[in-house]
Amino acid sequence: MDRQTEVSLLREVIGLADQKSAYLDPEISHSPISRYMSPERYEREHTMLFRRKPIVVAQSLELIGEHAFIAKNFLGLPLLLTRDGEGKVNVFLNVCRHRGAKIEREATGCKRVFTCPYHGWSWSNHGDLRAVPHEGQGFPDLPRAERGLRRLPSHEAHGFIWVIANPDAAEITDIGRWLSGLDGDFNWLGLADHRIAVMETINIKANWKVLFEGGLEAYHFRVAHKDTIGPYFHDNLSTYKQFGPHIRAVLPRLSLSNLKDVPQEQWDIRQHANLLYMVLPNIQMLVQQDHVMLFHFEPKGVDLTHVRMATLVPNSAPQTAEMQAHWEKNQKITVTALAEDFELGEEIQSGFASRGNPSHIFGRYEGALNRFNLVVEELIAT
Ligand code: FES
Ligand SMILES: [Fe+2]
Repeated sequence: MDRQTEVSLLREVIGLADQKSAYLDPEISHSPISRYMSPERYEREHTMLFRRKPIVVAQSLELIGEHAFIAKNFLGLPLLLTRDGEGKVNVFLNVCRHRGAKIEREATGCKRVFTCPYHGWSWSNHGDLRAVPHEGQGFPDLPRAERGLRRLPSHEAHGFIWVIANPDAAEITDIGRWLSGLDGDFNWLGLADHRIAVMETINIKANWKVLFEGGLEAYHFRVAHKDTIGPYFHDNLSTYKQFGPHIRAVLPRLSLSNLKDVPQEQWDIRQHANLLYMVLPNIQMLVQQDHVMLFHFEPKGVDLTHVRMATLVPNSAPQTAEMQAHWEKNQKITVTALAEDFELGEEIQSGFASRGNPSHIFGRYEGALNRFNLVVEELIAT
């Protein structure tokens, strides 16, 4: 984010606070509940969105050092991520090219060569087939080049490893195109120069979109979060902007009101507002004063979502017990508030079956939720 944007966003929310209004979309909108509960719809999102567009499968910091690897199942695919001797990230299907066994069973480690536990075929961490036991007799003239590990298009940028979860898809040549103008904000955040201070995971019995929607409005803050974070935020004050399929929401804290007495040169948006970046299809970043909370989503089914929640702190922050206690306290505050959102999300999901609502209604200050849903509709339509 450049300085001009930072100041103009603060000006915008100060103006809205003066008018006692959130940013308003022109109209109310409706969201059919089939979006969140139909297995066919979920299948379509899986195929058309999660298997077609760049997803974040890991953070760069999970794959540090030459010959590091991660083996994990993600979105139903067995993946093997390697960092080769040149420091480049490779993402393969963790599936043997002989008869399909899972090649690497350890979750993480450091290896140059991966050997299948079934018949012992092995591959380099570049994915080249290196050795086949009894090859001469059993596999005369084996076209080795055709038996390399199946590679998925991948790209490392901004501290994340992005992958298109389809081995037949074209390479990711320009992640900036997918980020649609958010590159500058990613540079401003500098997450490649952060470390994880605290991390936890949770499974939530709700559709991934119900959870995404929860972060895009401040209408619920003073009600759902009245005993936690609600009192620290302006009531129902927020604004948002779309960047292609992604959204940046600004959620001002009460301290925004003090800014009028501060020279503009000293305005710092992170001191007076939370920023929520929703980067489709599977991360959200909640930018707070001195750290960023990352939410890494993995939809597991139409009504089940796995979320990894990590407090990312600048590498320059002192690594002391005192600071660690500070990060842990912050993570706890955010997760306690989120538990309120997640409980609501699970209740909403379980209420769908009652058919009490054929659709949800979004007010004019919940326009970001409608935009998000329209983007998903568009992406799965083509
Ligand atoms: S299945 Fe892997 S070597 Fe045979
Ligand atoms: Fe919330």
